[in-house]
Amino acid sequence: MKNDMRPFQSWFGRYTRRFLKNFKGDDRNALALKIYHSQQVRKIIKELSKRIGLSRKEIFLAEISGLFHDIGRFEQFRKYHTFYDLKSEDHAALSCNVLKKEGVLDTLSGVERDLVLDSIFVHNKFSIPQDFKGLKLIISKLLRDADKIDIWRVFDDFYQMSKGSSEINLGLPMGEKISEKVFSQFMKEEIVNIKDVKSQVDFMVMRLSWLYDINFKESLLKIVKRGYIDTIFRLLPEDEKTNAIREKIFSFIEKRGVYGKGS
Ligand SMILES: [Fe+2]
Repeated sequence: MKNDMRPFQSWFGRYTRRFLKNFKGDDRNALALKIYHSQQVRKIIKELSKRIGLSRKEIFLAEISGLFHDIGRFEQFRKYHTFYDLKSEDHAALSCNVLKKEGVLDTLSGVERDLVLDSIFVHNKFSIPQDFKGLKLIISKLLRDADKIDIWRVFDDFYQMSKGSSEINLGLPMGEKISEKVFSQFMKEEIVNIKDVKSQVDFMVMRLSWLYDINFKESLLKIVKRGYIDTIFRLLPEDEKTNAIREKIFSFIEKRGVYGKGS
């Protein structure tokens, strides 16, 4: 059947179960969260693709990218017992290697396969390469947005309900103040470099800075409506830096034509 996700879904199920089986407790939960995340990103990218008017075939390719973008996480965790790329290896590159090695995308045409692999490869990079054009560029942008939206959910659950594994904080200390370097990057509307993140407080500011990299207005609206930004502000220290960040973020959101909750 044309544009059928079922064979991809069943491969995904078989592959991920192989890893789940070998872990217990927190480790198993951390991996289960990655499975759920993959499915959520697939759903979000499908929704966004429809909303911006992509064709059935294009939505299908976007869904495949969403489902498999983090497939390398399983091998990463098995090998290094962490999701921290800097302490292990680039998980997006690993995702591409797994897909190639397992022949998962062999039923697609060469062009489609390259599109899926390239969008996956750049999903966690600082920016999308200049030479990405047409559908490849659109799907890469959608994937980055969908991934960020769902990562926000993961953290939101963690902070609001202490749900999930502490692995998602990369084991960082809580910290009391926002680091100067992180703050100045944020105020310049730059995406905070993970290398400068020293604590969970910095980490939250880094997450906020991802808003600068959101490609579609539809995505930004989803983030605001889900209340993820509010959760972060409840957790940041009450000081001048946080106030400056708050002002900055709200004027940025307004500039993009998105106005608060329920509007
Ligand atoms: Fe990822």
